[in-house]
Amino acid sequence: MSYDYILTDTPVAGVGVVQLNRPKAYNALSTPLLIEVMTALREFDTDDSIGCMILTGNEKAFAAGADIKEMDGKTQVDMYMGQSLIEHLDFTSLTKPLIAAVSGFVLGGGCEVAMSCDMIVASDTAVFGQPEINLGIIPGGGGTQRLTHAVGKALAMEIMLTDRRLSAEEALQYGLVNRVAPVDEYMNVAIEIAQKVANKSQVAIKLTKDAVNKAYEVSLQEGLALENRNFLVSFGSEDKVEGMKAFIEKREAEWKHR
Ligand code: CAA
Repeated sequence: MSYDYILTDTPVAGVGVVQLNRPKAYNALSTPLLIEVMTALREFDTDDSIGCMILTGNEKAFAAGADIKEMDGKTQVDMYMGQSLIEHLDFTSLTKPLIAAVSGFVLGGGCEVAMSCDMIVASDTAVFGQPEINLGIIPGGGGTQRLTHAVGKALAMEIMLTDRRLSAEEALQYGLVNRVAPVDEYMNVAIEIAQKVANKSQVAIKLTKDAVNKAYEVSLQEGLALENRNFLVSFGSEDKVEGMKAFIEKREAEWKHR
């Protein structure tokens, strides 16, 4: 499939990469771009040869937010009748892990998209922020919720109320990102992590991702019940039999993903 605003690649076996490709607009998240991103991610998600996905931009920008030029002139009803960023990029419908590999500007909707992924690898030049306040609006892609969960209320308030930006090192310190690497290395780090994920039992990966994501949505009791259900489901897989046998026989497991 050919795209106008993104590039796709499988740099190593098992790993699918979607790259935002509107460099002149710092990868501003226009509607056609969002549609392409979700189409490409869904394609990887349903491809049995792919075990983990990466969403990235370029060195200068992961994304500088929703497309302001597209939003300018739109009325409340236009926005209501159209799809929101959250509706466009329904990452909760993806079953395979998705890693954001970010560099440069990670602003507004760009930061929200990164936070919607399962892990974030950042280059040391990455700058995170929610500057919507400067436009007279508020974050509309999950920022008020996900950033608050990630860094706590006090810092989230400062970021969203004053447009305080976080450096990559600060983002690491506050638990927003998994890793920080030099700008010419961050993509390799993301690919390395993605490869590790892709080389595990995909049954166990899917069950784990599902249970961890539920930790944000349900009470502890409900979460523990769901974890127990997924744990029991994992005991029904061929990979459970193989994984334990391989441990006892002191060899690498050969996953069937069944
Ligand atoms: N939407 C549309 N176009 C954008 C854009 C955006 N979010 N960000 C940058 N661009 C465009 C600029 O308009 C400019 O295009 P032209 O060359 O055609 O004029 C081009 O990218 C380069 O931008 P600048 O000239 O501004 O470059 P700079 O290096 O001086 O500044 C920047 C870079 C700090 C990222 C600055 O462009 C900026 O502040 N961008 C907007 C950031 C922002 O406010 N993001 C939040 C958007 S709202 C949102 O995301 C809502 C939501 O939660 C869903």
